[in-house]
Amino acid sequence: MDKELDWGNLTFGYVPTDYNVRCCYRDGKWGEIEVSSSDTINIHMAATSLHYGQECFEGLKAFRGKDGKIRIFRLDENAARMRRSAEGIMMAPVPEELFREMCIKAVKLNERFVPPYGSGASLYLRPLEIGISAKVGVKPADEFMFMIFVTPVGPYFKTGFKPSNYCIMREYDRVAPKGTGQWKVGGNYAAGIQAGERAHSMGYSAVLYLDPKEKKYLDECGPANFFAIKDGVYITPSSDSILPSVTNKSFTQLAQDLGLKVERRHIAVEELADVQEAAACGTAAVASPIGEIDDIDTGTKYVIAKDGNPGPVTTALYNKLRAIQLGEEEDVHGWNTIVE
Ligand code: PLP
Ligand code: COI
Repeated sequence: MDKELDWGNLTFGYVPTDYNVRCCYRDGKWGEIEVSSSDTINIHMAATSLHYGQECFEGLKAFRGKDGKIRIFRLDENAARMRRSAEGIMMAPVPEELFREMCIKAVKLNERFVPPYGSGASLYLRPLEIGISAKVGVKPADEFMFMIFVTPVGPYFKTGFKPSNYCIMREYDRVAPKGTGQWKVGGNYAAGIQAGERAHSMGYSAVLYLDPKEKKYLDECGPANFFAIKDGVYITPSSDSILPSVTNKSFTQLAQDLGLKVERRHIAVEELADVQEAAACGTAAVASPIGEIDDIDTGTKYVIAKDGNPGPVTTALYNKLRAIQLGEEEDVHGWNTIVE
């Protein structure tokens, strides 16, 4: 970094950092952690990750707190989900302890890229695991590479914490009913790229997917979960085809802390007419308030943020989460890992 980054104007893009960390699984065991200053990898062209999508990843963030300390948010939740994703597509799971050690190492090695307190930006960690064995038949690899790179990021949706619009399009599914939706595997994102680009070209932030079996219930918002506030209740979909979001789990807890009732259940599309607030939530999205949801197939428009502003509960949840991540408020649930 020759000159100071413009921390307040970062987008959700790739900014090169100093180091990344890697570890390979060979002969039935994980090897030594390697530190690299190259952001490329050299793998066999017949690697299972390249042909059959044997890839899973994670996304989590580190923050510079008010006290100057660096905190990584809910690292153990991401480690556990990465294990489930890997097992789901028959890859050797990364032990949680190794995941933790490598996250901390990647942050420490790139400490100068952790955005300053008050900038609104954070350091995004992207752990990923790929099958690297050469196979031509459709089979799992027996050798894997796990790596973590980090990059400083700003908001995922360019509107930031301002309401933006989402659309429902029944023409596309992100995942199959008994498919890989609960796992964070690359194939799910490949399946959603066309729908996502179409939604963007029509001015929407993302597609609000419906359950792929009956197309009756809400699933999730592109790369984020969905929640709504209905008569003082935090409602969020219960579905086998969505990614269990760490952010949603956190908001669920914070909503309860604020005295709200929480319901994790099927949410029929038509129920959107009766909610007072709604948002997309995730590590990248944090809480991105939803202004309007357009059901493209039926022509129904659900106007949620009637005055064009984020609702009070969404705002309170967002502020509470941020305050914990930035060390402004006591971490009563033990969510932060302080990088010493
Ligand atoms: N759903 C999908 C499909 C995602 O890619 C993400 C991002 O990780 C989320 C939801 C939000 O999950 P989390 O809050 O754990 O980042
Ligand atoms: C995240 O929220 O961490 C994500 O992974 C979303 C996305 C950029 C795929």
